[in-house]
Amino acid sequence: MKSSLTYLLTACYAAAVASQPTGSSDKLGHERSLIQVGESHIPIWMMEQEVLGLIRSKKTFMDITGNNLLPAMVYPTEPRQKAVVQEIHQLLSPDSMRIFLTTFSSFPNRYCRSHYGVKSSDWLYNTVAELIKNNRGTLNRRVPHRRISQQSIVVRIEGQGNLASEVVVVGAHQDSINQANPYMGRSPGADDDGSGSTTIFETLSALLRAQYQPARSLEFHWYAGEEIGLVGSQDIAQDYANRNVNVRAMLQLDMTGFTDHSGNMGIVTDFVHPELTQFTRQLVHTYSNLTALDFQCGYACSDHASWSKYGFPSAMPFESNEMELNPYIHSDKDTVETVDFDHMLQFAKIATGFAVELTHTSE
Ligand code: BES
Ligand code: ZN
Repeated sequence: MKSSLTYLLTACYAAAVASQPTGSSDKLGHERSLIQVGESHIPIWMMEQEVLGLIRSKKTFMDITGNNLLPAMVYPTEPRQKAVVQEIHQLLSPDSMRIFLTTFSSFPNRYCRSHYGVKSSDWLYNTVAELIKNNRGTLNRRVPHRRISQQSIVVRIEGQGNLASEVVVVGAHQDSINQANPYMGRSPGADDDGSGSTTIFETLSALLRAQYQPARSLEFHWYAGEEIGLVGSQDIAQDYANRNVNVRAMLQLDMTGFTDHSGNMGIVTDFVHPELTQFTRQLVHTYSNLTALDFQCGYACSDHASWSKYGFPSAMPFESNEMELNPYIHSDKDTVETVDFDHMLQFAKIATGFAVELTHTSE
């Protein structure tokens, strides 16, 4: 007997996969169906011939195409706050990002179960506290997790007016890993995910310096324990689901600093919300100099998947549309010298657009 939790998780992941914008038809336009052959199996997109093959070999299965448990959401059809966003863009600084990331990646590691994972988290918390200290209406808190010593960090800019209970989240993961030796090996984690942590810090910093006042509440999350299975983000998404928090959108930035200078970047299309992803493509087009190309990141590749799992809409832009572009991640070679701050700046511009466009208006 499968537990009801297994059923729930499978259904949620199935929903996330089912909601992929791509994959439902091939290049010739032949329809594909999302097929699941068992509760613990990941659903697979299949052509009709493949489905007939299952029938002939007497395998049982369900066609779950369109079983979408993610909420229907309406996002703006195009960016509408260009003047406000572009004003705030002036405050983003690659030099500030370099200074932040140089310190953040100088801890021997940020492994979520190690002494240094706690030290780096303390430094991040204190740096965030310093940034927000003169801003009334902006609060920070630490979120402890049962199985790891590192804590997640949450900053909230309280919304104004009748939309204040709705939340827009911008996230990154603070932990790093040396996969050969997590406790003793060095893992500067400059790109993975010092880059996303830096990008969202700089975005928050610019919004605060611009004295931006959102209508919806705006949160910045630095998750603990992503590298060992999305531990921090799952705890937080589950807590928000239990408390019925109305999360309208979540943007995950995991790796924003490594580039081959092709001018391309990636937009993750699996385990994300299709409409929010479409809106994010428009943000890339409007607010950055990069070309967004679709790519699949795989099951639970980063913290956006935790939000999909608990039924919240998420999207994930990525530094490249090639999965293996950065050969240094999870090793001692993922250093600040390998990171491009002009590339990272593009992601800070996208994140600023996301934050303002989705919290500014009464829609
Ligand atoms: N930043 C990576 C995910 C990643 C790496 C995305 C390369 C695209 C290209 C992330 O921190 C990671 O390592 N994720 C793991 C899964 C995690 C749950 C252990 C992965 O994708 O293998
Ligand atoms: Zn990562």
